[in-house]
Amino acid sequence: MITALRGTHDILPGEVEKWQHVERIARQLCEQYGYVEVRTPVIEREELFSKGTGETTDIVQKEMYSFTDKGGDRVTLRPEATPSMVRAYVEHNLENVLPAAKLFSMGPMFRYERPQKGRYRQFHQLDVEVFGMQDPAVDAEVIDLAWSLIADLGIAQAELVINSVGCKDCRPMFQEALLKALGDDLGKLCQDCQRRAKTNPLRIYDCKVPADQPIIDRLPHSVDYLDEKCAAHFAGVQGHLNTFGIPWRISHRLVRGLDYYTRTTFEVLGQTLGAQNALLGGGRYDGLVEKLGGPDRTGIGFAAGLERLVLALPESAPIAAPRRAFVVAIGEEGRAEALKLLVELRRAGLAAQMELEARGLRAQMKRADRLGARVTLLVGGDELARGEVTLRDMTSGAQRAVVRSEIVQAVREVVSS
Ligand code: HAM
Repeated sequence: MITALRGTHDILPGEVEKWQHVERIARQLCEQYGYVEVRTPVIEREELFSKGTGETTDIVQKEMYSFTDKGGDRVTLRPEATPSMVRAYVEHNLENVLPAAKLFSMGPMFRYERPQKGRYRQFHQLDVEVFGMQDPAVDAEVIDLAWSLIADLGIAQAELVINSVGCKDCRPMFQEALLKALGDDLGKLCQDCQRRAKTNPLRIYDCKVPADQPIIDRLPHSVDYLDEKCAAHFAGVQGHLNTFGIPWRISHRLVRGLDYYTRTTFEVLGQTLGAQNALLGGGRYDGLVEKLGGPDRTGIGFAAGLERLVLALPESAPIAAPRRAFVVAIGEEGRAEALKLLVELRRAGLAAQMELEARGLRAQMKRADRLGARVTLLVGGDELARGEVTLRDMTSGAQRAVVRSEIVQAVREVVSS
């Protein structure tokens, strides 16, 4: 028996309906907010991520599925969508092609992480990106879209946390203050943090090692080191969120695990997910487009983990099951007519099924039951001679004869009632 790889999952009937529900709501919302869909390859050049996601991130240092292909190129299964979206935006000159560079994408991502609830090696994201607009209203619109997604999915008790990590001008001052405040305590932090202090001190805030937490909690806050422009921008974002009626709180430790963030960062945290509680996360990345060889354009976006959204769905989520008709053939003489009716129902756009291998009446009725048919049509014998079909409403159990020529309309009425 060859099984699926650790950290990867088949999404089977029974669960796949929840995925379709989440994907449908996500797509509807993105379109409602004026975002257009882009689909990029799952495989890219390795350097897109080492440069884009950043050399000092856990993703690039430990988690990428990278290999040399048969042509000798270093390639990577994408660990996140943002660098690919930037590449596509630049490569296809989308700022001139599209009326607004507001893009979304959905698909699988790959990170070689230690699997646990809500954390997998193949997972899926809804990714949303906006290029070339830096007004705080854009940050607020992106956050509003993220918040609406959670609300429309009926996920309760979610919490929006925001922060600003400043820009390339004011960040050095904050980093200096951070290292100064750490002082001799640096030696007491874990090995990872000691490395982070050299490569990207902000990343220390990501540390999850319990013994390090009291030291990290005493460190300075990035919002106290913003320059005038960044401070005004962050105040603008907060003002818009208030206008939109979205509740938020500042989390000083929200630096996010990717290297490209500037100014606004945000996450929506769920209550039901345990340690992996981020339903979605994102922020502004104003230098990334240029870094990846494009023009000097700003960017902001977020990605939501679809597995986590599915896990957080309320029990009562209205997952629409198809309301099917099931055609039952009585005896050999009924079979040909039943098959004809099956095709007719489908041509009319109705969901209809039938037992295609000839079986007894009882077995067919049992199957109709298991499929959760809304209505069953019995075709054969006397009714057929009279030009009628027996329609059984599976919810009420009521049964009646319907003239053959009116059966499609009768089924339509029952399944839409
Ligand atoms: P991220 O925080 O690495 O950001 O991932 C975003 C979301 O993807 C997380 O909040 C989580 O829901 C989900 N996720 C991440 N890793 C896993 C995993 N191993 N298993 C299951 N779900 C996971 C990004 O990826 C950025 N590209 C977001 C962004 C877009 N920033 C700006 N634009």
